Amino acid sequence: MKGVILAGGLGTRLFPLTKITNKHLLPIYDLPMIYYPIQTLVNAGIDDIMIVTGGRNSGDFLRLLGNGSEFGLKHLNYAYQEGEGGIAAALSLAEHWAAGDSIVVVLGDNLIEGNICQAVTNFREQDGGAKILLKEVPDPERFGVATLSGDRVTKIVEKPAQPETNLAVIGIYMYDGTVWDIIGGLEPSKRGEMEITDVNNHFIADGTMTFEVLDGWWTDAGTFESLHRASNMVADGGANKVGD
Ligand code: G1P
Repeated sequence: MKGVILAGGLGTRLFPLTKITNKHLLPIYDLPMIYYPIQTLVNAGIDDIMIVTGGRNSGDFLRLLGNGSEFGLKHLNYAYQEGEGGIAAALSLAEHWAAGDSIVVVLGDNLIEGNICQAVTNFREQDGGAKILLKEVPDPERFGVATLSGDRVTKIVEKPAQPETNLAVIGIYMYDGTVWDIIGGLEPSKRGEMEITDVNNHFIADGTMTFEVLDGWWTDAGTFESLHRASNMVADGGANKVGD
């Protein structure tokens, strides 16, 4: 199983901070943001990792991370995204490298307190398809929101004005090798992006999507409020940090 971290985008919600650097290089308390998703994968036993990034500051990822030795990795793989196109478009840059393997995708601005070891083990044991992780939040309208029926996810709506539940779909996704065909068949959404929610809804329609509810805190860090919250959570409660 391979890991893909999506660390591109313009980070416009964090202007002017992101006019001079990539969002994922901004500090979360005492470490650059990108450290946290790398550690999430490493803690889950995934050591074959690709970072997809872009923009003028992409060279700084190499300078900062090198071959990933700080994380106990032998090497890191990088892909360069030209322009913007949404999460699913960024993910498609990893297709050639993933070469049909299953993947765990982590959005570069997502931090978790605990780990995803059990979820990854469960996904390995399921018969292909996909798995998402959910978390109850007070502000579901900011996220992809899942509706459940028993032990099944029946749909995900991206940033609904009136959410049916308070279950956010967090930015950690597990897919088998069919994900590439699904991405290839996507149409851009109303905001002109290839949406990861559309990818997930395909797996739901196929009946091959499973879910788990994440233990411990989770936050994104793509707005001033959530960036601040993420730093506080790391400072107060730790996270899956280097060396833990
Ligand atoms: C993205 C996804 C959304 C998900 C969120 C998690 O939103 O589109 O479904 O809930 O990440 O962080 P974005 O942060 O790009 O607006």
